[in-house]
Amino acid sequence: MEKQFKRTLITTALPYANGPVHIGHLAGVYVPADIYTRYLRLKGQDVLMIGGSDEHGVPITLRAKKEGITPQDVVDRCHRIIKQSFEDFGITFDIYSRTTSQTHRQVALDFFRALYEKGEFIEKTSEQYYDEEAKQFLADRYITGTCPHCKNENAYGDQCEACGTSLSPTDLIEPRSAISGSKPVLKETTHWYLPLDKHEAWLRQWILEDHKEWKPNVYGQCKSWLDMGLQPRAVSRDLDWGIPVPVEGAEGKVLYVWFDAPIGYISNTKELLPDSWETWWKDPESKIVHFIGKDNIVFHCIVFPAMLKAEGTFCLPENVPANEFLNLEGDKISTSRNWAVWLHEYLEEFPGKQDVLRYVLTANAPETKDNDFTWKDFQARNNNELVAILGNFVNRALVLTQKYFEGKVPARGELTEYDQQTFTDFANVKQDVERLLETYHFRDAQKEAMNLARIGNKYLADMEPWKLAKTDMERVATILNIALQITANLTIAFEPFLPFSMVKLNQMLNVEPLGWDRLGATDLLPEGHQLNTPALLFEKIEDSVIEAQVQKLLDTKKANEEENYKANPIRENINFDDFAKLDIRVGTVLECAKVPKADKLLQFRIDDGLQQRTIVSGIAQHYSPEELVGKQICFIANLAPRKLKGIVSEGMILSAENFDGTLSVITTEKEVKPGSEVK
Ligand code: 2FM
Ligand code: ZN
Repeated sequence: MEKQFKRTLITTALPYANGPVHIGHLAGVYVPADIYTRYLRLKGQDVLMIGGSDEHGVPITLRAKKEGITPQDVVDRCHRIIKQSFEDFGITFDIYSRTTSQTHRQVALDFFRALYEKGEFIEKTSEQYYDEEAKQFLADRYITGTCPHCKNENAYGDQCEACGTSLSPTDLIEPRSAISGSKPVLKETTHWYLPLDKHEAWLRQWILEDHKEWKPNVYGQCKSWLDMGLQPRAVSRDLDWGIPVPVEGAEGKVLYVWFDAPIGYISNTKELLPDSWETWWKDPESKIVHFIGKDNIVFHCIVFPAMLKAEGTFCLPENVPANEFLNLEGDKISTSRNWAVWLHEYLEEFPGKQDVLRYVLTANAPETKDNDFTWKDFQARNNNELVAILGNFVNRALVLTQKYFEGKVPARGELTEYDQQTFTDFANVKQDVERLLETYHFRDAQKEAMNLARIGNKYLADMEPWKLAKTDMERVATILNIALQITANLTIAFEPFLPFSMVKLNQMLNVEPLGWDRLGATDLLPEGHQLNTPALLFEKIEDSVIEAQVQKLLDTKKANEEENYKANPIRENINFDDFAKLDIRVGTVLECAKVPKADKLLQFRIDDGLQQRTIVSGIAQHYSPEELVGKQICFIANLAPRKLKGIVSEGMILSAENFDGTLSVITTEKEVKPGSEVK
């Protein structure tokens, strides 16, 4: 028997306040969380939905620097835009606050102090790069230099993107600060670490044994983190933007943004309910659910629970239904490349069509794997589902009632077997939708709701009351009464998914919103009840509108390509002898496997025509090993051997880097003998 809770606390990932929000945010986190919250509210349950902006962290400081304004200016502006977008799309937060609020600062400080005083941190001093010009320590990503392995001159302090090796900043040859360009110096610094290794045993039990019901993508990611073994994680940073570490001698240090952000859920609850927030977080009768995207799984399933456990008085989350990513027209959504559908722009271009986007994003939600948003699919779902099924049915029922009964709900006469079957069919929808919503299967739940409209549509199409109107008005009355009861049911079933349209529909039906418990009832509209004048719920979207959106993306792509070319111009001429030094050959992949503990690397066994050789290549994020076995690839055969993660690599596999950073290995157009030279 599943545990019953008294109340549900729903948290939604706090988006970084360094830019507006896009469809990926909505699809991954806010629409599913809102559907879930609305559903529980409709059921009359005690529920809170908590949100807010994540306003600390290095990227915000860099953006401020770039724009010549303060970090506070950046977050003030972005917070306003983000909050407005959520409101516009009907995301019904009980509070949407921010991590620069006074309450948050206080709660985060108290939390840190509690852990500090209980001895839950370890203190470590290490040498880190410091930019003497900018007068600040540098986060790994903000140090660039030459990769010791492949000599790429633009490797980052945490990783070389050319060869895929993970690095630490001190591995870089000739490091440079990405902030000032100057040469950073090593300087000692002390930080506080949460010793996650000490929490590993109970985390294993809690997740891997006690929460087997978590979504496979979430469970799997946790398992792989736990299997790799947890390491202490620093919870402070040397930075001048954030919440100062409340310890003597910690000047210039702030709480790490990933330490303070999840505490934001707690502080925002406190800001909303200063007197009763603790019940929501500390009473075991509270069910806490975190809605997040997949890149946040480790923080919500491992780090934050470890923080809560270390503090000792908080409940742990009951579930973390993380989604995968939504792509846009086949490419990863990217803020820096402007590859996104921004919510504020969508609303300017599709005013009043919030529900269409909500519907499409749910129908296509990346619940189990990454999914793709395309404008063609957006149009098809609008025209073929919202307009042709839901809108068409509702409109027919309402218009026919106006026409034949002056908009009054007609009396129901004797029911035929088909009428009764129709009632039974839609009565079953309730439990299906409930089961799906309660297990976080929002796409299927919405599909079930749409089935209710399908039932209605089919019923009217089969009954053809417009034909019967000439001969049998009593029968027409019964048919329309049934169609109107189905319509009223739709307002309940669709409220969590299409809230704006259901407000309109309730107005047309001239009823107050109906509670979830009435779903399935056949007497929602009493005989003689006066309806209001109907209007169209949805309208067709024409090809030209979609073509304009696709063109907009093509323009963005073109601009990005030009930009890319400019940033990566053709290098200066070389003579033939320089080229001839490179010995490029074709090889056949005999074996290919992932390199343990290196998420970018694949290890190949290649037939080079004469013998077999091992090559390590940084393409693991672009290919699975199975895809490459048997393929002919091109490789540099005379590159001096070098060690990558302890494996001697005898050559380098050639691939083309697409503008978005994806890699495609070079193969031959016709099959050739292994060892053939590439000239
Ligand atoms: O990935 C992000 O956008 C983070 N700002 C999410 C933070 S979630 C929570 F911890 F606040
Ligand atoms: Zn490299």
